[in-house]
This record gives sequence, C-alpha cells and structure tokens, in this order.
Amino acid sequence: MQQYRTWIADAAKKNKANIVLALDLTKLEPRQLLARCLEILQETAPYICAVKLNRQIVLPLGLHNVGKIVKLAHKLGLPIIMDCKINDVGHTNEVIAKHYFNAGFDAVTASPFVGWKDGMEPVFKLAHRSGKGVILLVYMSHKAAEEGYGQKVIDPKIGKPRPQYEIFAEKALEWNADGAVVGATYPEKIRAVHQTLGTKIPIYSPGVGVQGGDIEAALKAGANYLIIGRTIFESANPAETAKSLREKINAI
Ligand code: XMP
Repeated sequence: MQQYRTWIADAAKKNKANIVLALDLTKLEPRQLLARCLEILQETAPYICAVKLNRQIVLPLGLHNVGKIVKLAHKLGLPIIMDCKINDVGHTNEVIAKHYFNAGFDAVTASPFVGWKDGMEPVFKLAHRSGKGVILLVYMSHKAAEEGYGQKVIDPKIGKPRPQYEIFAEKALEWNADGAVVGATYPEKIRAVHQTLGTKIPIYSPGVGVQGGDIEAALKAGANYLIIGRTIFESANPAETAKSLREKINAI
C-alpha cells in the first residue's frame, strides 16, 4: 500500500483537485445513510483527492459497515482519513489508531495538546511503521478556537509567552506530521503556520462554505487541501457542486 502522504498528493495531481470530502451525513437511518454515503462518494470521486469520515458516520454505522466506504474509496483510488481527533494517554491513543488503521483508514487526526512522551509518540510510531498518516490540529475553524489554540502560553523552551498554535505548528514539524489542520475561517493563522511549515507539511483547511471561510483567502494564505462537507453533500447535486468548486479552486 502506498504511503499516505504521497498517495493524497498523487490523487490531487491525477484528479486536479485538492478537495477532501467530509462525508458527515446525518438525518438518515443507518441503511440509507450507508447507501447515500457510497453514492455521493462514487459521484464526487473524480473531483476530490481524499475522503474524510467523522463520528457522524462511524458511530451509527459501526466500523464493520464503514469498511464498505473505505473499500469504495480505495477502489476509486482515494485515501480515507478518520477525523477522530485522538487526545488521550499514549496506550489508549495507540489502540484507537490501531483500530482505525486495521479498518483500512489511511490517516487519523490528532490533538497536539497531549504532548509527545506517553501521548502522541505511540500514534506516530505506529502510523509511520505502516505507511499511515497523522494530521495534527494546529488552529481549529470554529468561533471559540482562540480560547484554546489562540491563547498565549509560556513556551517552556524560551520561558516567554507565545500563541499556542505557533508552538503546535513547531510540534508538527518536530514530530514529522503528515498534515496540519488550520481553519479556513482564519486565513491570517494559515499564513503564520505556513511560514513555519513551508513546503514540508501540507495545511488542511476546513471551514469554507457553511462555516464562512473564503476559498481564495485560505488558498492564498497557504492552504494545500480544503476539507469541504455540507457545501457539497447538502447541495442538490453533490457531483456538480464538487466539480464547480474544483474549477473555482483551480482558477485561483
Ligand atoms: P463543513 O460541513 O463545515 O465540514 O464543510 C467540515 C468538516 O471538517 C471538520 N472540521 C474540523 N476538523 N479541525 C478539524 O480537524 C477543525 O478545525 C475543523 N473544523 C471542522 C468538521 O467536523 C467536518 O467534518
């Protein structure tokens, strides 16, 4: 199996698309939910570079049924990310990651708040032994993001206050993360994180469309991949919407 980080880059090149489709459907019974997820994935596949699932899907369907979405993504040549935001002690984190990787997921999201030793270290080691990816949250897209990711903390390395997200961006580099999540709703944060990461670690940006983030501002600030959910799957024609978003992005 191909390494996650090169797989998503290759899929983006092949489909000329940097959209990560967030399949967060709700309001359907499990059987219709699975069928609709498969249908939307099949139709939008030519216009995206990866799929992302969250617990909106994994909780009602269970890992066994989710395996059908994983299989279809792989058949369509797309990697699939589990947005599980791992955030516990090391041995628990490792088991969580192991279950998702064994179910076929190619990358997981994780929170840097828990630190390295007995925190994220086992997840990165497990992932990188098996060609999988770990995408770190650096600055989230929601309104209260500043309360955590934007707060000033004393950086233990220099003994002076700095914004938390700057330290998280440095951790992403130090830990060799496969991606850093920065909300499209905060393009100035994307720009700052991009300055730290350069071309070494791609920025994944959720929050365009329904959450209010602007595609052009996010891309110009340095976002590499755009995570898009409701704008696509709640539209009357998800394939057409994904296609026209891809065209809009490529024109920028
Ligand atoms: P929408 O429907 O708003 O979906 O396009 C966005 C998807 O991305 C997730 N999300 C985030 N994930 N950090 C993350 O890791 C964030 O800051 C963030 N904001 C949104 C959201 O759960 C949904 O799956």
